[in-house]
Amino acid sequence: NKGKYEHYMQKEIHEQPESLTTTMRGRLMRGGSCKAKTVLLGGLKDHLKTIRRSRRIVFIGCGTSYNAALAARPILEELSGVPVTMEIASDLVDRQGPIYREDTAVFVSQSGETADTLLALAYALENGALCVGITNTVGSAIARRTHCGVHINAGCEIGVASTKAYTSQIVVMAMLALAIGDDTMSSQLRREAIVDGLFDLPNKVREALKLDQEMEDLAKLLIAEQSLLVFGRGYNYATALEGALKVKEVALMHSEGILAGEMKHGPLALVDENLPIIVIATHDACFSKQQSVIQQLHARKGRLIVICSKGDAALVCPSGSCRVIEVPQVEDCLQPVVNIIPLQLLAYHLTVLRGYNVDQPRNLAKSVTTE
Ligand code: UD1
Ligand code: F6R
Repeated sequence: NKGKYEHYMQKEIHEQPESLTTTMRGRLMRGGSCKAKTVLLGGLKDHLKTIRRSRRIVFIGCGTSYNAALAARPILEELSGVPVTMEIASDLVDRQGPIYREDTAVFVSQSGETADTLLALAYALENGALCVGITNTVGSAIARRTHCGVHINAGCEIGVASTKAYTSQIVVMAMLALAIGDDTMSSQLRREAIVDGLFDLPNKVREALKLDQEMEDLAKLLIAEQSLLVFGRGYNYATALEGALKVKEVALMHSEGILAGEMKHGPLALVDENLPIIVIATHDACFSKQQSVIQQLHARKGRLIVICSKGDAALVCPSGSCRVIEVPQVEDCLQPVVNIIPLQLLAYHLTVLRGYNVDQPRNLAKSVTTE
């Protein structure tokens, strides 16, 4: 049931304040006596000690689920102190890459039925790793075959393009980082700030959704483009990849997410006065580096669209010549959840304006059950 919406993708984008609330329900604690601000992930509580002691945490997934894990990687590294590596499921299987008994392998999948991810799971089980699932589908193959895990509880996702599952996956993995880091005194203030940030996140997402009209206007400008680049770094490298994935899979426009730190190692050659470039430059530890990326793109007459924190327009675009999209600022590690909203809206509107099928892009299936 699409309710007042025309498409499932549109509905699922707009229901994110509610889906995020459901994801966190019963799992975030604030108040009480000793453990004032903390998280409780019922499915993991008996396994946290093993995870903390593991030699490495390996995230494994495909497509959007992989991107969500990439978004959560920095906070997991920071709070767990355990090295965190990333694997695209098919590539791990192709390489028969090393997975050890001392590893924690975390399988991220909305459907819980993706063939590539299931093959990687079988491989990791054979190799004796602790296998943790993060899925939206109770009773799915990933939920059943992993040793333990967390359901993201985002509600059924029908649009082929994953939207609300992405933001709920990031939130669950941020909560995973909080749970693993729970025994570390030195990060307590940081963890409490993140818990506060999580409580307020649905409101901030609601605020970001007000960019709908602005993103439709931007889509009108980009409707006939051949290509769109998205630059991000740090916490928002994943946002660049995921924004580009949405644009290519539903709007059928070539789009590439680029790690801004790699700009000078190739992508800069593409920059001219025609190619539209979105730069994500919200306020975090990488902000001044992104400012200089913007300057360099500007010097090459790049057609810039900058996503920045509220009030930063003059800082990111002193010349006033780029299009600026302001989003509410949240705790740095949660910013990807807010920043993807305008890009989801852009992909949606571009698709509708270009006359393509939003909910069933050509050649794609919701659940990819073949290799
Ligand atoms: C569980 C109940 C929830 C109830 C809550 C009350 C289920 C599905 N969830 O939620 O209805 O309100 O207790 O305390 O009954 N698991 C995996 N792999 C995965 C995902 C999950 O093995 O990929 C396992 C978990 O380790 C856990 C179980 O499935 O044993 C349920 O996980 P989850 O729904 O996340 O647990 P709770 O949030 O505690
Ligand atoms: C993108 C998309 C795909 C899926 C990928 C993994 O919008 O839907 O990239 O994210 O096929 O699917 P799950 O998460 O079900 O394993």
